[in-house]
Amino acid sequence: MAFRPKKPNSASPTTLLLLLTLSAVAILLLRSPSISTPSYRNAATSSARSKATTFSGDLRHAHFSWNSLRLTPDGPPPARLRIAVFTRKWPVSSAPGGMERHALTLHSALSGRGHAIHVFTSAPSSSGELLPEGGAAGGGPHLHFLSGTNWRCDEAWALYQAEVEHGGAFDVVHSESVAVFHRWARRIPNLAVSWHGISLEALHSGIYQDLARRPDEPLSPAFNRSLGGSIYKVLDEIRFFHHYAHHVAISDSTGEMLRDVYQIPSGRVHVILNGVEEDKFAPDASLGDAFRAEMKIPLGSLVMGVAGRLVKDKGHPLLYEAFAKLSLRHPNVYLVVAGSGPWAQRYAELGRNVVALGPVPPEKLRAFYNSLDVFLNPTLRPQGLDLTLMEAMQCGKPVAATRFPSIKGTIVVDDEFGYTFAPNVEALLEVLEKVVGEGPARLAERGRACKNYAQSMFTATKMSLAYERLFLCIKNNTYCSYPLPFD
Ligand SMILES: *[C@@H]1O[C@H](CO)[C@@H](O)[C@H](O)[C@H]1NC(C)=O
Ligand SMILES: *[C@@H]1O[C@H](CO)[C@@H](O)[C@H](O)[C@H]1NC(C)=O
Repeated sequence: MAFRPKKPNSASPTTLLLLLTLSAVAILLLRSPSISTPSYRNAATSSARSKATTFSGDLRHAHFSWNSLRLTPDGPPPARLRIAVFTRKWPVSSAPGGMERHALTLHSALSGRGHAIHVFTSAPSSSGELLPEGGAAGGGPHLHFLSGTNWRCDEAWALYQAEVEHGGAFDVVHSESVAVFHRWARRIPNLAVSWHGISLEALHSGIYQDLARRPDEPLSPAFNRSLGGSIYKVLDEIRFFHHYAHHVAISDSTGEMLRDVYQIPSGRVHVILNGVEEDKFAPDASLGDAFRAEMKIPLGSLVMGVAGRLVKDKGHPLLYEAFAKLSLRHPNVYLVVAGSGPWAQRYAELGRNVVALGPVPPEKLRAFYNSLDVFLNPTLRPQGLDLTLMEAMQCGKPVAATRFPSIKGTIVVDDEFGYTFAPNVEALLEVLEKVVGEGPARLAERGRACKNYAQSMFTATKMSLAYERLFLCIKNNTYCSYPLPFD
């Protein structure tokens, strides 16, 4: 690659070159192995899967996601680890963000497997209450709170050092994104950081958000500034990411960007996909039917669903416009909207074909997903990996989502699992028409393939076994070999 930053102040030619390089990479990632293969399995996926099943050797050099390894939860881990976790937040509400949910799901599971987990995090805000499973009382992770609700790495570090003096050294330090700042990171050889979204993805996001702007919609100065600044954030990240010893990419495409654009040696980049609790999300037809009845959706309708924050950058203006057109042509098609935000009211105005549920409590999500024929996610923000797509697939539902590298490379990896579209109204509407044309029976068939795939890749158990193996490998590189007798 032509890019080789040496003097940060010889700005413009380097910057221009980098911008061109990044755009080229972005385009390559977006365009690479397309969904044109007619067969049930697309070529890229099946080769990645067979690589995983036939792999043997040092796991640090594996490029596929560790979720696809044969790791079984039977039997205790070969060693009990002492793990320090740095996370800006620990879930305090019933609708926590993706990164906090990741920390809770992962470290509760590891604690359940007998590892000693110490979490360093900011104090819960006075309005929220700790989720029951977050407390150490039930044998879960030990929580060490900062004095304030804002994250301060130096204070967390002092708490960590006090714990080292009190209970001994840690085998592994795990940081959720930049919770451990890079100034501290360079002192920690056994550090693994999980990146929940990187700046290169944010740059993609900025480009799509601007392109999704209507011709008459003014460009806000704040957005324009952040778009302009995002190139410098990428440059900054490429320089400081090297201070972290081990990088966990939560999607295949992030792994590729870290290796190929950020130039982190591949033995330090590991792909471990996020997972969702398999006991909370599963197919249940009668639960879904009952929920449809509760929403007064007539029998024989085709039901689409969308969930999450109802904000512009999640693509709601696109879906609003596309669905308004679709429902004029197909009066038996319904859209169920779960979540709150500025677009809730707009959806409600679309009339009888839209059911705006407002925020859906976690215990109702399973019923929500099960009531659908297809789950939609028109997001314009590809940072990280949206858990809702995995939840829908766990419930046996096909998905239609924006064609971002992370989604195409990790979620809709097979034509059978659903549909992807470019982030514009026409492309989305075309996909929605296709969904309606295929009808519920075909969608259910796709859903079964989704369920099988999700069960093999996206469960919380898979995720935590993959992290356990990485942490064992960081402690003692004997465990980096695969397979071992217990695999
Ligand atoms: C956005 O920022 C660019 C570069 O900083 C500038 O050239 C352009 O005029 C700005 N556009 C608006 C509408 O502010
Ligand atoms: C690493 O683990 C292996 C297998 O349990 C053990 O034999 C070896 O002594 C360990 N090495 C170190 C440095 O702890």
